[in-house]
Amino acid sequence: MTGPPNPPRTDAVTPTEDERAKRWADAPLAELIDHVLGVYHRAHTEALPRVRVLARAAVDEATDEARPALLELERLLQGLADELADHMHKEETVLFPWIRSGRGRTAGAPMRIMCADHQRSTETLITLRRLAGAFDASRPASPARQALCVELERLERDVDEHIHLENDILFPRALAG
Ligand SMILES: [Fe+2]
Ligand SMILES: [Fe+2]
Repeated sequence: MTGPPNPPRTDAVTPTEDERAKRWADAPLAELIDHVLGVYHRAHTEALPRVRVLARAAVDEATDEARPALLELERLLQGLADELADHMHKEETVLFPWIRSGRGRTAGAPMRIMCADHQRSTETLITLRRLAGAFDASRPASPARQALCVELERLERDVDEHIHLENDILFPRALAG
């Protein structure tokens, strides 16, 4: 698939799930947590305001046909931004310090809550992608909507990687003690 190149990352993110799994299979959990915070929490915190500005611009430029989908997208995006901020705050202030202190084995219940949050965010991002691409037969997508699609795709990829690291590597390793 072609598209504009992604900006350089703040850390070397390995390209496949297998490589990520290998990289983090034995590293100290504190290092993995630092990686999650430094790369993904930071990336989402920076990306969400940018995506919301683009969503507003896309609404402003929308045809009558495309406007309802983009207004719904804007509403869902606001909810996602609030949920992700709250989710990351809980990890940063409660769950991750708990894991760092070596008590991850007792954190099964909060981890299940985090996994439910992850599932909800994933579903919202799929809906956002569908709404962003909502077909406007009368003319090509506006520049703002094209930029919005690129940013949403990047956000979805980052959230997928982030969730994979927590659901499939960090949480199971912490639970195993
Ligand atoms: Fe996280
Ligand atoms: Fe999380």
